[in-house]
Amino acid sequence: MNLRGRPATTPQIELPLETQRLILREFKKSDLKAVHAYSSLEDVARYLVWGPNTLNQSKEAIEGFLDDQRARPREIFDVAITLKPKREVVGGVGIRVIDRDNLTGELGYTLHPDFWGYGIATEASYAMLDAGFSMLGLQRIVAHCDQRNKASARVMERLGMRREGAFRASKHIQGEWRDEFLYAMLAEDFS
Ligand SMILES: CC(C)(COP(=O)(O)OP(=O)(O)OC[C@H]1O[C@@H](n2cnc3c(N)ncnc32)[C@H](O)[C@@H]1OP(=O)(O)O)[C@@H](O)C(=O)NCCC(=O)NCCS
Repeated sequence: MNLRGRPATTPQIELPLETQRLILREFKKSDLKAVHAYSSLEDVARYLVWGPNTLNQSKEAIEGFLDDQRARPREIFDVAITLKPKREVVGGVGIRVIDRDNLTGELGYTLHPDFWGYGIATEASYAMLDAGFSMLGLQRIVAHCDQRNKASARVMERLGMRREGAFRASKHIQGEWRDEFLYAMLAEDFS
């Protein structure tokens, strides 16, 4: 039973998730090299609240993913995006439950730049939205991005998320105030 049914057990996303080109699976300790390959890059971190990571910070990030996997109730589902057929890790996508009472989750995604522009973030995010609505029973999933992050805003639009807000100076990141967009989708709008 999912969140809406007030279950005795906490709902989970059943991993791995498979899409046409991707397998989304739990992160493992051995993913450090692949995760660091993108999380250490300035281009990747430009509009993010974290990074560029030192090797130690990437290690801590993986330890955090492993902690999240063990947490009960589990609120954070940050998973590896792997590309078929070799199944190399090319990025991460995640849903976290940010407001259990109101069945609300938040979506986020990051990819290695070698794989930008092929629709991978959209394909991975679509599978996570599906899992968030159908497996976790969420009724609303939101996502934020820096207003200058055109690729991220475009991913949300391609997913069919609606821009609900444009916030001024809403986050203080790496010494500067950032303007953000808020996007959201309701379960009833997901198809
Ligand atoms: C945001 C990100 C995940 C997008 O990944 P992606 O797989 O390249 O995205 P997709 O290919 O699914 O879609 C990208 C869309 O953005 C567009 N886009 C890509 N780069 C762009 C840019 N610099 N300016 C404008 N649009 C851009 C693409 O054309 C495409 O739209 P289209 O299909 O209408 O042409 C990737 O750029 C990334 O990892 N960035 C760094 C981390 C980050 O910012 N994450 C999001 C935090 S909110």
